[in-house]
Amino acid sequence: MTNEEVNTGRRRFLTASTAVVGAVGVGFAAVPFIKSWSPSARARFAGAPVTQDISALADGQQLVVAWRGQPVYIAKRTKEMLAVLPQMDALVADPKSDASEQPAYAKNENRSIKPEILVLVGVCTHLGCAPELYAEIKPEPFDPNWKGGYFCPCHKSRYDIAGRVLKSMPAPLNLPVPPYYFADDNTVVIGVDQKGAA
Ligand code: FES
Repeated sequence: MTNEEVNTGRRRFLTASTAVVGAVGVGFAAVPFIKSWSPSARARFAGAPVTQDISALADGQQLVVAWRGQPVYIAKRTKEMLAVLPQMDALVADPKSDASEQPAYAKNENRSIKPEILVLVGVCTHLGCAPELYAEIKPEPFDPNWKGGYFCPCHKSRYDIAGRVLKSMPAPLNLPVPPYYFADDNTVVIGVDQKGAA
């Protein structure tokens, strides 16, 4: 079973989301037979860390992996995308993420360990839909001044390319950052930090 998909745009992103939902569905369906699961499958469903190879991830692309039954987005940002973030400080509701959820090592201007790699829980802080990545800096139907980021199709919350929610949106908080670390340059471990804390 594949828990992840590489995608370059919205259409492929939807495919990836479907893959994640499918994986979760299998998990729930299999609960009555949990004794037949391998120990690793059981641990994974309960929330064990997920290791993901990101070597195929190109600039502006995003991977979606399932962790604790939720989608986790791993996006690769360009220098242009990162350069926009200081300009967004005045437009977002919680610029320093003081009220939002992230490990201390991701509470910084990029909300990440490595500036270019963004790791977010893909669950809208309004009512839990999956925000969609619109990576390009160009006018979008929902925002003529779009600077790249995430758009939630359920009630139109907009987030910047660090997952920070814009002011006056239905969503109250930034997208959470899960615990994670880099096992090496091309391997991200989601669900636990370098010291092993979940
Ligand atoms: S669930 Fe995202 S805006 Fe309502």
